[in-house]
Amino acid sequence: MKTGKAHILAAAAAIGLAALGFGAPASADMNPALAALGPPPIPTDNVQTPEKVELGKMLFFDTRIGGDASVSCADCHAQKQGWGFADPISRGYPGVIHWRNSQTVINSAYLGKLFWTGSAKSLENQAPAAALGAVSGNGERDMVEARLAFIPEYVKRFKDVFGDDWPKVNNVWRAMAAFERTLIHNNTPFDQYMRGDKSALSEQQVRGLELFQGKASCIECHNGPLLTDERYYNLGVPRAEDWLDSGLAQITFRYEQLAKGTTEKMYRKIKDDAGLYYRTKQKSDMGKFRTAPLRYTAYTAPFMHNGSFFDFDEIVDFYNEGGGENDFTDGSWAANKTKLLKPLGLSDEEKEDLVAFLESLSGEEIRIPTPKLPPYAPLASAKNAN
Ligand code: HEC
Ligand code: HEC
Repeated sequence: MKTGKAHILAAAAAIGLAALGFGAPASADMNPALAALGPPPIPTDNVQTPEKVELGKMLFFDTRIGGDASVSCADCHAQKQGWGFADPISRGYPGVIHWRNSQTVINSAYLGKLFWTGSAKSLENQAPAAALGAVSGNGERDMVEARLAFIPEYVKRFKDVFGDDWPKVNNVWRAMAAFERTLIHNNTPFDQYMRGDKSALSEQQVRGLELFQGKASCIECHNGPLLTDERYYNLGVPRAEDWLDSGLAQITFRYEQLAKGTTEKMYRKIKDDAGLYYRTKQKSDMGKFRTAPLRYTAYTAPFMHNGSFFDFDEIVDFYNEGGGENDFTDGSWAANKTKLLKPLGLSDEEKEDLVAFLESLSGEEIRIPTPKLPPYAPLASAKNAN
């Protein structure tokens, strides 16, 4: 299956690069301008059809994709929890908890780097990582195919959508990706304002927008229509409260150190998530995470990779103090906190303005009817066999 970034960029070119923020930087300091969000890029090798989207929606809500048939994508990306999960650290596969905060799937269609450290490059590649990962879905490809083959409604739908004789697991990921490309949020008050409706933001929000791009310098990293540069930084995000007391959290955290191949010293001592380091094994990448997109965040607290902040006030205070400190900023591993964060000196009124602006990035909540899922049935051929 070829679903590389090249395809996504090709699709992006077709709909106009500027709408996605890959266009020419607008300001002198080279940050891509904030802008209204256009339609999402669609890869040429996984085009959208209503039937594919409907199938993907069913699969997204179907627990039979997970190992013990009890966890679906929608359990950790719950629409009532901002299409994420409302605990600081996400629930996990039964028996474990996850090790990171669950991200919203709203607008994930626009991202070229998925997950907190960008370890998947397309939704088609992201879905199997989620469905098969040990602490998330813990599924198994052959078992998924066997289960789907015993659900006549799915057999028919995979045949109609993909021409499969039997449902193929790779087409599960393609259908899910197509569904996720409909979970789009691009008509917020902020979008309306950027499209020319100057009444869409309050005066306070407009002041917040100016601070965002000026004195508070959020624009250094949260830029373009998605409000992310999709680069990685160590902000010194503090350890999540309660983390040290949670045995289950410690187990998953240690397990991930082994699974990601860290050193024995790290395995024994590490207390903060080393982020991008697990992918690159460069000390300078310790504690770095992808700049979070800021749309829909009114519904997705708690925030940051470990859910250490619960509301916008806490976030703005954190940045106003110039960020924080973690194990990778005090010199014990590598002193690599970003130089872009400095105390901002915002007044209380300015902090409120900034929070009001952040609220303008969310708009109406996205809620859809939960699909009805088809039952298992014995194969006709199996029933007649003797
Ligand atoms: C047990 C909980 C759990 C399950 C089940 C789960 N996810 Fe996730 N999902 C998470 C967590 C936690 C993250 C962030 C993990 C990380 O970055 O390491 C995440 C991240 C994502 C992202 C990345 C969003 C972004 O901003 O980069 C997408 C997309 C996503 N999940 C889709 C899915 C799909 C599709 C399924 C079903 C196949 C699924 N997830 C199943 C917990 C879960
Ligand atoms: C140096 C780059 C940088 C700057 C400057 C910056 N951010 Fe961030 N922001 C990030 C990164 C990286 C994350 C994710 C960090 C993590 O999870 O460890 C993030 C996360 C966030 C989140 C949490 C979103 C979520 O879904 O969890 C919010 C809200 C936020 N930033 C708002 C702001 C505001 C407001 C400003 C300006 C006061 C700002 N940021 C300045 C890089 C930056």
